[in-house]
Amino acid sequence: MTRGLPFALACTALLAVACGGSTSSSAIAAPDDSALATVVDENPDPHTLEVHLDARVATTVFGASPPTAVWSYNGSIPGPLLDLNVGDRLIVHFTNHLPESTTIHWHGVRLPAAMDGTPAMQSPIEPGASFDYDFVVKDPGLFWFHPHMRSDAQVNKGLYGALRVRGANEPASDDEKILVLDDIKIKADGSIPDYLDDTSRMMGRGGNTVLVNGTANATLRVRPNATERWRIVNTANGRFFKLHLPGVALRVVGTDGGPLAHPYDTDALLIAPGERYDVFLRIPDATDTSLVMTTQAYDRGHDSGADPPLDVATVRVEGARVATPATLPAKGAAIDALPTPSQTLPMRLDEKSVATGGFAFTINDVSYPNIPTIDVPLGEMRAIALDNASEMDHPFHLHGFFFQAIARGGVAVPESERVWKDTIIVPMKSTLTLAVRFDAPGTWMYHCHILEHAEGGMMGDIMVH
Ligand code: C2O
Ligand code: CU
Ligand code: CU
Repeated sequence: MTRGLPFALACTALLAVACGGSTSSSAIAAPDDSALATVVDENPDPHTLEVHLDARVATTVFGASPPTAVWSYNGSIPGPLLDLNVGDRLIVHFTNHLPESTTIHWHGVRLPAAMDGTPAMQSPIEPGASFDYDFVVKDPGLFWFHPHMRSDAQVNKGLYGALRVRGANEPASDDEKILVLDDIKIKADGSIPDYLDDTSRMMGRGGNTVLVNGTANATLRVRPNATERWRIVNTANGRFFKLHLPGVALRVVGTDGGPLAHPYDTDALLIAPGERYDVFLRIPDATDTSLVMTTQAYDRGHDSGADPPLDVATVRVEGARVATPATLPAKGAAIDALPTPSQTLPMRLDEKSVATGGFAFTINDVSYPNIPTIDVPLGEMRAIALDNASEMDHPFHLHGFFFQAIARGGVAVPESERVWKDTIIVPMKSTLTLAVRFDAPGTWMYHCHILEHAEGGMMGDIMVH
């Protein structure tokens, strides 16, 4: 997509009705729940997006609940969409208006470590203080941003937003949406509980309200027979989404680290916290109908498989039919295998109850911040041998690099499943080996993306130098 105006400005001018980034003008007249908030691009250079973001307390209304006090970027949940092309520079003038310190981490973005927003690389941004994030985006895909201090609590309160980076040769679709998924617990009085009970500590804060782009009971408006492209991110603390749209196959064309070589179809798309998926789908050729997208049962441990399916959004088919829809992408560019690492970093993931009450989450029997920092010489390859000894799945996330899964349960991952990831499910009681080239200097964090597990100790640092 070429932009005559900086994209965010164009969106503001159009009042953001269909500014999910539609690649063709759509017949949608009613406001679409799937539209994300926008932010003004203050920089006239078309290759620089320069914005002001702040973190602030705000009030919002979710569905039929009384007003909820939330923490937000620029007053909205999710925060504004940051929309860029590969090679663009992003400058964010950030101010913290929260009552506690925070940072912004740019999940999945390969950037200088000083811009990564982690306690390893940045001092906390205190209440009232500011910090400028400034980096170039190198990779196409959907990324997201969120705090990296008390992240379990801060993300749960609403601090997250999407960052889209378009590549040079994006496949064509008729319409495009970004779906930022969340699941929060809202009490009868509208408030989000601030405490952490044992279940939330064990499973990650689970919700009673599914949000799509900040909206409960969201409606996604689509045209009959259209080829839609949905880029999806799961920002929930605990919930794994397993998306199902009756009668419609989701063609997965990309994930965390960009396009797949071998797109595949699924009718149950599993997305763990932190993960992203890029899917194409053909909308039924039946105007004025509705489909309900659900999240299906999934057992991630501790009897969670018994949780019933939940509605995620209504897909409303309406408006002018698309006569000649874009074709669903069939093949992507090949992904080369990384060389086989000669050294291995073993990481045994586990949980244990502690004498003082609650649980600790451990890597090789120790909890952050007591986990020894791993040293890797700049440019070297390492295998990360994950051994999940616990009774639950852990979505493992590495900052600063994409990795490839090379073996599951000791069996080599076939070429057809080779993808670039930065967050990956390590199923309970299983092993998974990743290959990574540590080609950027600095200290990079790795952790479980169930943020209660990360804050509960399943987190460490890798120093590359
Ligand atoms: Cu999205 Cu260190 O995390
Ligand atoms: Cu990250
Ligand atoms: Cu975990």
